[in-house]
Amino acid sequence: MSPAHPQLEFVPAIIEIAQEAGSLLLEYFHRRVAVEYKGEADLVTEADRAAELLIVWRIRERWPGHDILGEESGSSGSTSEYRWYVDPLDGTTNFAHGFPVFSVSLGLEHKGERIAGVVYDPTRQECFSAERGRGAFLNGTAIHVSKTTRLAESLLSTGFPSQKRHKNPNIFFYQQLTMRTHGVRRPGSAALDLCYVASGRFDGFWEFNLNPWDTAAGVLIAQEAGGQVTDFTGGAFRISSEEVLASNGTIHGELLQQFADVFAGRGVEVPASPAEYAKARQS
Ligand code: IPD
Ligand code: CA
Ligand code: CA
Repeated sequence: MSPAHPQLEFVPAIIEIAQEAGSLLLEYFHRRVAVEYKGEADLVTEADRAAELLIVWRIRERWPGHDILGEESGSSGSTSEYRWYVDPLDGTTNFAHGFPVFSVSLGLEHKGERIAGVVYDPTRQECFSAERGRGAFLNGTAIHVSKTTRLAESLLSTGFPSQKRHKNPNIFFYQQLTMRTHGVRRPGSAALDLCYVASGRFDGFWEFNLNPWDTAAGVLIAQEAGGQVTDFTGGAFRISSEEVLASNGTIHGELLQQFADVFAGRGVEVPASPAEYAKARQS
């Protein structure tokens, strides 16, 4: 550990916290827990709250003066140069239905710059981590984005919001990009989606309306693995910008072009009409 890079002191401790919280989530996952609603399709469980309590407790023990923004408990502190973004359970809908794709996401900022991030998937025991300027890792082994050069040969992922769903246009982008790639997945944990771009499992990922706790760790991990992360018009990603477009960098220009086209209504693929399809299948 070099004194010139004091931030190297963070990741090992963050991994410990994320893994402890991940084990706690798994206990709840195996015994299945009751679901409550924060919004129309926005779920929360006892596991979200218990994991966040544990994480906040552990952060406070080690770094008592740091600010924390947690999805379930909100913001605490506003005077530190350090700020944590805590998503104790990213993928609550999957978790609540027994679908084993979810993660713990912990990101750390210093003076507004993301310096460390860990995303832990307890069901696969996969721990993604990164420190600014030091590369990205999966269970200690360096990871890199894919080398796919053409959008037409890419595999992408996306997500849909759980609030104000009828106001979101993502289904048009989903349709368009499904027709122009090898496919678009919707796994259900934005933090893991970003880590899958980092590790080359996906060539790109986008989502509207994300929160800082969804993106803080995953964006740094994707960038440190050689990826590019912007908003939908190619502007620098900001923690408050909500929209996220991440890729291996090589296909980023093509993705931005697709976004510009769909927003402008140019060349949009119109899906087959269900009524016409129904008529044809009866004849
Ligand atoms: C959700 C997941 C999901 C994404 C939603 C997020 P949560 O987070 O990341 O993949 O599509 O937009 O809200 O609520 O499970 O922590
Ligand atoms: Ca989340
Ligand atoms: Ca969450």
